[in-house]
Formats: sequence, structure tokens, C-alpha cells
Amino acid sequence: MQFRDLKKQYSVLKDEIDKSIAGVLSSAQFISGGAVRELEAQLAEYVGVKHCITCANGTDAITLALKAWGVGKGDAVFVPDFTFFSTGECPAAEGAAAVFVDVDERTYNIDPDRLEEAIIKVKNEGRYTPKVVAAVDLFGQPADYPRIREICRKYGLLLLEDGAQGFGGSINGRKACSFGDISTTSFFPAKPLGCYGDGGAVFTDNDQWAAAVRSLAVHGKNAGNKYDNVRLGMNSRLDTLQAAILQVKLKAFREYELDDINKAALKYNEALKNTGLVLPEIKEGYVSSWAQYTVQLPEGTDRAALQARLKEREIPAMVYYMKPMHTQGAFAGTDSADAGCPVTERLCRTVLSLPLHPYITDEEIKKVADALGSFLRKEG
Ligand SMILES: Cc1ncc(COP(=O)(O)O)c(C=O)c1O
Repeated sequence: MQFRDLKKQYSVLKDEIDKSIAGVLSSAQFISGGAVRELEAQLAEYVGVKHCITCANGTDAITLALKAWGVGKGDAVFVPDFTFFSTGECPAAEGAAAVFVDVDERTYNIDPDRLEEAIIKVKNEGRYTPKVVAAVDLFGQPADYPRIREICRKYGLLLLEDGAQGFGGSINGRKACSFGDISTTSFFPAKPLGCYGDGGAVFTDNDQWAAAVRSLAVHGKNAGNKYDNVRLGMNSRLDTLQAAILQVKLKAFREYELDDINKAALKYNEALKNTGLVLPEIKEGYVSSWAQYTVQLPEGTDRAALQARLKEREIPAMVYYMKPMHTQGAFAGTDSADAGCPVTERLCRTVLSLPLHPYITDEEIKKVADALGSFLRKEG
């Protein structure tokens, strides 16, 4: 069983993907070919924002947003403590202070109450200027943007939506990657919408920021002339081949993959309901794109032994994430290490992500649920 079955997906989409790749090969337009601009228009339309600028990966997408806003030394960027490293890495690499904030134990996303407390604390201490809230759509569910937006308004902060895992999710019909002043995503192969290598995108309604991101992604070029460099930038472009692959995958994602993965997640909920696990909770009005199906084990469960038992039955299960961000070695000795986040600490001990993708079968879901159930009954 595959954790995310990209081989199966390819076998279904093979003819279209091969044709799309062949089109790029025969055009020999490997950088900034037509497929890139077409894909950007399709992504912007799907998400419901004015501008989409593709780039090399989801980490660069965050960096491009922060650079467009001029985030740097002296600024504080509020980041959930429970996320992939990039969300904290990028602001810190720009010289800002990443302030780690605890998460909601049911949705795994940044807790708005803890966020407001952290903003007030940073303001009162006066060492850093609160500048950006970088909220994450962890495991596919959008963060609590109605409340986060209100907090950003109250304290005059910019909102960055790190939608690397959230593409396709929504709140009351409004799509993920449209909630931030700037939003970002990743097309890493295992993401809800993934390419066959690295890829990412930046979304915004703001013309000025969109122009800055487009310039920053190509060495700070002038809009009309790429050899006239008006700012220091990066080399962060999506390859035409990846754009051509993503065009095919976006069609499948819109037509059935997002629906199918949601149906599969419901089947997991049903199959696991009496096992004693805490199951993922999707808020009323929210849709997840299910980057991960993550359960919480009863405190004290031998997670490594469970993973080993599952592996014996050829069931891959992963731990996202093992370490709170504030305890990562890269932040040791910095102000970012000084965060009390008990919910994140507990989640890091108890979470387990199970195989899930749009092509998973009922038999595979049953096999995972049976294996988990039998291990937990013996442990209990
Ligand atoms: C929450 C989050 N942010 C950012 C990233 C970075 O994306 P990429 O791997 O495309 O650089 C990831 C990727 O794993 C992620 O999960």
C-alpha cells in the first residue's frame, strides 16, 4: 500500500500527461513557456484571486511574499508551532523573529486566542514590531481565517496564508489560497495538487505585490526587461514541464480527485470511530483537501511499535510532526525558542498520519483500520 499513490494516479492520467509533456518537449520552451501562463490563469480562476505567480517551490513562495512586503530585521512574524519547517524558516532567514504560537488541539491549526496573546506580548515587550501572521492550512484544512483576519485588522498586521497543504480546501465556498493578503502553495509531488518535482505558487489580489513577486522571482527584473534589475531577487520559476503536468492534474483534481479524497476520509472516520483514536475534525462550513489524514493516539501508546506493526502489514504511516518548531535546533539560543506550546508538544507525541489519496480503495481503508484496531485493543 502506498501512503500517497502517485503511481496509480499516473496510470489513470498517463495518456494526457504524456501528451502534455511531449508538447513541451517539441516546443523546446522549457522556461516560461505558454503552459506556465495558462496554468497561472487557471489557478487564479480556481482560487478566485486576481493574480497567481508560479515559482520553484512552496518555500520560495513564502520567501517571495515576505520579500515583497519588505519583512526583515526587527519584525515579528507569528507562526504556528505545529507545522513544516519552512513556515518558520523563511521569516527567520529574512532576519525577522519567528514567534511560535500554539495550535488548536482539534483542527491542528493556529489557535486565534493564543495568537492574540502572543501579539500583545510582543507589543508590550517592544523588542520586535508585529508585522505578519503566517497561518498554515495544516493537513488540508483552512485555518480559522474569519477570526485570524479580525485579529490582523485589530493589530494592523499582514496575513500570509501558507496553503502548501491546503490547495483545494474552502470555508463556506471560498477557496484556500485566497484568505491571505498574500497566499502561497506548494506543488511538491505528495501535496493535494502535486507536480513531478518541485513547484509552488503565490496568490494575491494586490497589483503592486503581484508585480513585486513577479520581479523578485526573476532576479528582481524590471517588468519589461529581464536584464534591467531593479531589486535583489531570486531565481525561482516553475518549469514549463511541471506546468504542463499540473494542467492535467488540476483538471482531475477539479473533476473528481478532491471529491474522492473527501469520500475516502469519511470512510476512515466511519471505520475508525470505535478505536479510541482522536479523529481529524473538520469545522462546520470548512472543506479539507486532506493533505494528511492525521489521528491522535491515546497518550502513552508506543507509536514506534505501532508503526513497525503497520509496516509488517505493508501499511506506511508517518509522523507529521515530531518536533515543535520552537524546539528545532535551528532556533536554539534565539528568542524563537522561548515559546510555551503545550498542545503542540502533546500532538508531537501522539499524532500519526495514515495512507490517504483519491485512489485509495475501501479494502485498503479497512486493512488500515483493522490493523490499528487490533494493535490498540492489545495495548489497551
Ligand atoms: C506547511 C508547509 N509550508 C511550506 C512547505 C514548503 O513547500 P516546498 O516543499 O514546496 O518548498 C511545505 C512542504 O512540505 C509545507 O507542508
